[in-house]
Amino acid sequence: MQTMTLKNKNILLGVCGGIAAYKAVELLRLMKKAGADVRVVMTQSAQEFVGETTFRVLSENEVCTGLFNTNEASVRHIEWASEADAVVIAPATANFIANMAHGMANDALTTMLLAVTCPVIVCPSMNTHMYENLALQRNIDIIEGDGAFVVEPGSGELACKTTGAGRLPEPGLIFDRVLGALTRKDLKGKTVLVSAGPTREAIDPVRYISNHSSGKMGYAIAAAAEKRGARVTLVSGPVNLDPLFGVETVNVESALEMADAVLDHLDESDVVIKVAAVADYRPEDPKTSKIKKKDQDPGQKSLTLSLVENPDILRLAGEKKRHQFIAGFAAETDDLEANALLKMEKKNLDMIAANLVGVDGSGFGSDFNKVKLFFRDGTVRDVPSMEKERVADALLDEISTRLT
Ligand code: PMT
Repeated sequence: MQTMTLKNKNILLGVCGGIAAYKAVELLRLMKKAGADVRVVMTQSAQEFVGETTFRVLSENEVCTGLFNTNEASVRHIEWASEADAVVIAPATANFIANMAHGMANDALTTMLLAVTCPVIVCPSMNTHMYENLALQRNIDIIEGDGAFVVEPGSGELACKTTGAGRLPEPGLIFDRVLGALTRKDLKGKTVLVSAGPTREAIDPVRYISNHSSGKMGYAIAAAAEKRGARVTLVSGPVNLDPLFGVETVNVESALEMADAVLDHLDESDVVIKVAAVADYRPEDPKTSKIKKKDQDPGQKSLTLSLVENPDILRLAGEKKRHQFIAGFAAETDDLEANALLKMEKKNLDMIAANLVGVDGSGFGSDFNKVKLFFRDGTVRDVPSMEKERVADALLDEISTRLT
């Protein structure tokens, strides 16, 4: 199974001198928590911003602050470089990027970089005008051309009081890119369409019918597919989750909108995974102004809503299927297997992931899920209760082997 942790991974964290150097401390913490062995290399100017001791204590490793600041007999820059599974430079200054672009070896970090053979992730952070400078952009093009993965900086008010691009991305996002760099690209060249979250069916402008789907399961699958190299489109109902890096997200509200978005992207997709909890019915006549209590007959204690059936999006996709691998989820409170198999048959699916809902530690809203995968060829796989990120990987492991 692909790993979402950094267990047994050796990461080189290069820190350059910028105000955002303090965020490298949090990045280090995240990588350590995920099980990585992290070695920190600081440029001389980085040491003006954050003390070497902080990185030494948190990494539980010696910190490299210069080519000659060691009593060891070994050639550390070669040893550390050859042992690294990934290198991440955060923050990367304009000076560092210029040096890297031109193969300079004028300090410990640039020298080490010349000796690495693993993926390199570079996170520029600087004043907006510096970032937009043509020479800097030229250097970024060079390092990207040489194979480095550059994480675009965020925008906002910067420490120098200018507003614009140049802010170091949040440590969580950089951590996610490190995971991505270490993930096998078994879905490269494939296009994956995922739907996630609930739909909302309007009763009037302020009320709707919906369900408890948080979107976590679908977002985990979309994020995992992106890391495995797929081009991913995510059709998302209204959720409270951060947008996913590198995933084209189409936000929708109702089942009708979701149907349009899914069917629009169907032809170009190799894999379709419908995780969304779509409302089966919608109010027949949604009101354009708020239904007032006083509009009802005095004394009337009930209100009847007339509902009409929504399209079954997955079934429509199954009917139009040509080359696609189509997977659905079945949310069941009982008769898990029988109901899931019936849905797989009726909707012409290649796979259905059946999960129990309405129980603790699985299904709606939980960070965990326990699913049983049923395939058209009769294969059944039990995925025990685990984090939704890991369930996503287990499911994609199964799908990717069936694509070739
Ligand atoms: O979002 P989370 O909080 O992480 O929770 C995850 C989940 C419980 C929502 C997810 O794991 C799950 O089970 N999703 C499917 C929910 C559902 O609607 O199941 P269903 O058995 O009603 O539908 C079967 C399949 O048909 C689903 O793939 C569904 O997307 C699809 N469907 C259903 C109705 C409809 N009108 N159109 C559809 O496409």
